[in-house]
Amino acid sequence: MIEVVGLRHDYGNAPVLQIDHWTLARGAVCCVTGPSGSGKTTFLDMLCALRRPTAGTVSVGGVSLAALGERQADRWRGQTVGVVSQVPHLFEWLSALENVEMSSTMARVPASRARALALLDQQGIVHLADQRADRLSVGQRQRVAVARALLLQPPLVVADEPTANLDDLACDDVLEALMKASTEGGTTIVLSSHDDRVKQRIDRRLHLTATVASRGTRRT
Ligand SMILES: Nc1ncnc2c1ncn2[C@@H]1O[C@H](COP(=O)(O)OP(=O)(O)O)[C@@H](O)[C@H]1O
Ligand SMILES: [Mg+2]
Repeated sequence: MIEVVGLRHDYGNAPVLQIDHWTLARGAVCCVTGPSGSGKTTFLDMLCALRRPTAGTVSVGGVSLAALGERQADRWRGQTVGVVSQVPHLFEWLSALENVEMSSTMARVPASRARALALLDQQGIVHLADQRADRLSVGQRQRVAVARALLLQPPLVVADEPTANLDDLACDDVLEALMKASTEGGTTIVLSSHDDRVKQRIDRRLHLTATVASRGTRRT
């Protein structure tokens, strides 16, 4: 599903990330770990074609991301990747349900309202479907963002520290939804986390190291 070859990223002259070769099979779940500043967000952005590597290639489902122009990349992402960021960006004046349905609107791919409601139900917040986003708690907002990412049953979900700001209950619901997408829908999941609650449940790891001396990656 994902193949990364000779990947490197520098910000100016500062190298932050180097991955020689890494692959992930369809439906697999991988946790990207490493200390703050080790390049986790940079790497996830590259998997979503939000950032271009300095060198090397990333291919997802046979699509080489370097070959996509900016608009093609936006279209590809909308149809292929459910993106969950650490701090959920929601449309504040829209309801929880409307925010979930936004992934369908933006990608111009139809999705049923029943599925959107079922995802909110799975996240334990279907009773908040009509609540405006700006009246939701941090945990509720992250649950909405996960439901939105899963709406179109994308082949890939990329989640950057999705549980970092969540209590145990919300953390469980978010992880459960992602795991279910993998086991039942064959969705490939790449998430970054420092969170032991997450690391305990995911065997596959990609560990990034931050130090210049040992720059590079180690698979555990
Ligand atoms: N837009 C940017 N410009 C310059 N440096 C950046 C930028 N984004 C991140 N960095 C630097 O790159 C390194 C890796 O950052 P990041 O990918 O956010 O790591 P992580 O998510 O593991 O904390 C850090 O040293 C960070 O300061
Ligand atoms: Mg980060």
